[in-house]
Amino acid sequence: MSEAADAPTSQNPDLHQPTRDELVEALRVRFGGDGAPAFDAVNPTILRQLQHRSVRRFSDRDVTDDQLRAILTAAQAASTSSNQHSWSVIVVRDQARKEQLKPLIGNQPFIDKAPVLLFWIADLHRSAALAERAERPFAGGALLEATLVAFVDAALAAQNATVAAESLGMGITYIGGARNHPEETAAALALPPHTAVAFGMTLGWPSPTDRAKIRPRPLPEIVVHHEQYDADVLPGLDAYAERINAFFAEYGREFDWQTYITEHFADDADFFGRERLREALRDLGLPSD
Ligand SMILES: Cc1cc2nc3c(=O)[nH]c(=O)nc-3n(C[C@H](O)[C@H](O)[C@H](O)COP(=O)(O)O)c2cc1C
Repeated sequence: MSEAADAPTSQNPDLHQPTRDELVEALRVRFGGDGAPAFDAVNPTILRQLQHRSVRRFSDRDVTDDQLRAILTAAQAASTSSNQHSWSVIVVRDQARKEQLKPLIGNQPFIDKAPVLLFWIADLHRSAALAERAERPFAGGALLEATLVAFVDAALAAQNATVAAESLGMGITYIGGARNHPEETAAALALPPHTAVAFGMTLGWPSPTDRAKIRPRPLPEIVVHHEQYDADVLPGLDAYAERINAFFAEYGREFDWQTYITEHFADDADFFGRERLREALRDLGLPSD
């Protein structure tokens, strides 16, 4: 067998050097016609990232162990704060377990339809285990900084996994609902102390019947700042609201993005259970002081 024939590979015909037309179209879809960013430094990775969309309807095609290993190994290659590796991931494939977890994590209908359900864990357990064996205190592990580092590490690993999965042609949706019942979810996943679920993620192959489109983003001018923050955000937000509201209207969905945002933040009492996250983190051994 030749060396080339022996080379490990995963072909995805969608991945190719983009043409200018494909780039312009991807930017138009993402940012609209007016004021969309323009650039030449594009490659298959960047085009794929521009085309990201959350996938909530999956085909029956399985995610193989080999593909999953590739995705999770790519996750492990992400940067990690101070080389601490303060994150873990739990792979749930068992259907009964998915169904058991579903009501705890927002009860969203697609959760148990995905072939793979991932839980990204903010994880100080390994550092605590080293401290315990060395008979050293773990005072720093109680700080908000330590908790934050673990959540950031989990997010970076998860997004590396997302890019890898999408490059293979799969789709994902993050599941913030996995923080709705932190203690119960931790118990169901047998999490040790000093760990908490940062968020979940469904992973699989998009169904051919999936209608989800690429969602608009605000123009870079209100997100990307040069040298110092420009706080004059409202005109840019009004322009974005027009685009995202029109996007949902195309689905026949009446939606006012600004009302959605203001109402979300208007009430701190009902965040699906997440309003008590500080107390839950304390219960889980991440006091975040
Ligand atoms: C941390 C995080 C948690 C999320 N939680 C959920 C969720 O529980 N359910 C869901 O349907 N989508 C969830 N999403 C997906 C967002 O709604 C989605 O990314 C956003 O609307 C933009 O759409 P797009 O990903 O298709 O571009 C979450 C995204 C992130 C980053």
